[in-house]
Amino acid sequence: MSRSTKKKNGAFTFSMGYGTQGKKEDQKSLLLEEKSLKTQVNGARVQISISKPVLLSEYNHPLRKKYNIEKYDLHPGYVFPEEVRALIPKGTPEYVDKGKNYVERIVRALYYFKQCALVGPSGTGKTHIVYLVAELCGLPIWEVNCGLQTSTYDLFGRYIGLGKENWVDGQIVMWCRYGGLLYLDEANMMKQDVAARMNPILDTRGHIVLTEKDNEIVHRHPYGYIVISMNPFSAEFVGTKPLNAALRRRMSVWIDFDYLSVGDEICPDEVDLIVKRSGVDKDTAYKIVKVGAELRRQYKNGDLPYGPSPGDLINWAVLIADGVSPQKAADETIVGTTSDDAEIQEMVRRVVYSVFGSK
Ligand SMILES: Nc1ncnc2c1ncn2[C@@H]1O[C@H](COP(=O)(O)OP(=O)(O)O)[C@@H](O)[C@H]1O
Ligand SMILES: [Mg+2]
Repeated sequence: MSRSTKKKNGAFTFSMGYGTQGKKEDQKSLLLEEKSLKTQVNGARVQISISKPVLLSEYNHPLRKKYNIEKYDLHPGYVFPEEVRALIPKGTPEYVDKGKNYVERIVRALYYFKQCALVGPSGTGKTHIVYLVAELCGLPIWEVNCGLQTSTYDLFGRYIGLGKENWVDGQIVMWCRYGGLLYLDEANMMKQDVAARMNPILDTRGHIVLTEKDNEIVHRHPYGYIVISMNPFSAEFVGTKPLNAALRRRMSVWIDFDYLSVGDEICPDEVDLIVKRSGVDKDTAYKIVKVGAELRRQYKNGDLPYGPSPGDLINWAVLIADGVSPQKAADETIVGTTSDDAEIQEMVRRVVYSVFGSK
């Protein structure tokens, strides 16, 4: 960060430049956000400047070292405006990564290429890690689930009521203007009309043309990053289709995600995670993960419509820790989460009974 201190009209003002990097201590001591307000009262002009220190953790998260991403600054010297800083995630729960360094790989991809793709079945922690990355890098997050019937109005903007002054930006246009991390979940389910409009902004110096707003051109913010994610298993998703070519070509880095435990492979870190997040004993947590791993195997095989995530297993474990029997607790959680089809629910119960007994 470069910074200059000038004496102007008897007062010191700070101006922050982009692009160059200073010493860390400087960043700590002098990250000020400056807001200017101008107003005119009875012909007298008043200008007020307010400088506010920005929370250090927002700029330089204490866990950056642990994840080995200290050298990748995704918005050097730039402080996101107050109105979008509430979108920087806080307190994202612990992420177990089995030594795969996902955080480092994603942040590195964003640093060099501005965008990357995550591929893995649902429940493997793609959304979770995107929030963690946004938190660690101090980026506001703009999340769009392409699988939902979100209208282009919501994504790009629209007029509200009458009159041209009542334009409201959509999510994607806001991201273009303010920067931060645009997360396109289920990107392979993106509708054609949305995809067509996305293409021009996928270039790192791209822009979007708001045809509905007198062809206003909005440039992609210099610190606007994109992560897309998708599920390669289409069994439960009728809408899943091959990713559109423009999107595929523009993603330089592809990162594969899988469940921590699947089939006979039980990940001890996942067992520990269940213990920590629910309070069940280790033996019970092991059995829970064993059931989960088998259900995931069946899901990947195409036999079940859904494989439970660590989050789903934690929910099951929380009820067990509260005194509910494992079988009953499963009925209230993972059985229903997998499907509402009675036959499929029976398949899930059979796996539960094979590990916990059937009483
Ligand atoms: N590796 C992991 N470590 C900790 N929690 C995880 C992990 N993977 C998934 N989870 C948890 O499982 C649930 C589903 O994860 P999510 O990120 O929504 O998966 P996806 O976006 O891939 O479908 C969430 O509650 C998440 O916190
Ligand atoms: Mg997700």
